[in-house]
Amino acid sequence: MSVAIVQGCSSGLGLALTQHILRHTNLTVYALTHQSTSSEFRDRIAVNVGKGKERLTVLSGVDVREERGLEKAAETVKEREGKGSVRLVACLAGVLHAEKSLGAIDLETALSTFQINTLGHLLTYKHFVPLIPNKREFKSLQSSWQDPEKPKDPARGMIGRDNSLCFSLSARVGSISDNERGGWYSYRASKAALNQVVRCLDHELANKSSSAIAVGYHPGTVLTSFTSPIIGKDAKPDLEHGRLTVDQAIDSMTKVMGKVTREGDEKWGGRCWDWKGERIEW
Ligand SMILES: NC(=O)c1ccc[n+]([C@@H]2O[C@H](COP(=O)([O-])OP(=O)(O)OC[C@H]3O[C@@H](n4cnc5c(N)ncnc54)[C@H](OP(=O)(O)O)[C@@H]3O)[C@@H](O)[C@H]2O)c1
Repeated sequence: MSVAIVQGCSSGLGLALTQHILRHTNLTVYALTHQSTSSEFRDRIAVNVGKGKERLTVLSGVDVREERGLEKAAETVKEREGKGSVRLVACLAGVLHAEKSLGAIDLETALSTFQINTLGHLLTYKHFVPLIPNKREFKSLQSSWQDPEKPKDPARGMIGRDNSLCFSLSARVGSISDNERGGWYSYRASKAALNQVVRCLDHELANKSSSAIAVGYHPGTVLTSFTSPIIGKDAKPDLEHGRLTVDQAIDSMTKVMGKVTREGDEKWGGRCWDWKGERIEW
């Protein structure tokens, strides 16, 4: 069984990504939310996914600020699906408190931003990466896809057929060299730190012969409840200027996911990519 873990599934991009995976792949999905009821979210996610909903489990109450919840979620996946079952760990948790100046910094809020945006991703990887197949296990999985009697790659091109994937929603504003305007101290700093986490993780994955590659990703400015306080509820999509609907964002995101590879000259691992598939400099 091949499993996708989607962390931060209750709204915006996490909800849409979960639905996309259920519609367009054969992966089994464990969708993690810090909200407390799973049946309500299961119904919300299951809209328009057809038979895909049979492959969905929602694990609720998984607040990434508390490690035990993530540990329990990973134990559940291991018990039900086995070690070596996880093909994708997608971390979407993120909060933005848009401080414009030093005077707006609140310690508790800034700490919570780091806990969710940076350490929450790190702890998710701590508990789920051990469930990703190593290269040897992955090779034997791959050879079963050649067997006409057995199911083909369940990721159906959404992830490269030669790898598993650790995928963190970062943001262009986490780039230090791109910072021309300042502001948003805790969000920018937490995403810059997340990029470093992704880089370290990718080295560890490569050193330990994991089948996974780790990347950070900037989805563009997407019209979700996350951005509406900043760009307004009535903002319109404008692809030319990088302002995307959720559907456009998921389409671009899953295309980039499918391109990530350790083959060829382009080094994808440990770097941050945007929705056009272009690298964002740190
Ligand atoms: N929208 C954009 O334009 C944009 C641009 C650049 C980067 N991003 C990044 O993309 C990601 C998703 O953004 P979005 O637009 O989809 O925003 P969103 O709808 O607000 O999603 C944020 C997610 O964070 C999760 N979350 C918040 N607090 C959490 C906690 N304590 N524990 C676990 N999860 C928590 C929530 O998941 P649950 O409620 O299910 O737990 C929620 O689904 C974020 O990391 C954001 O920084 C977005």
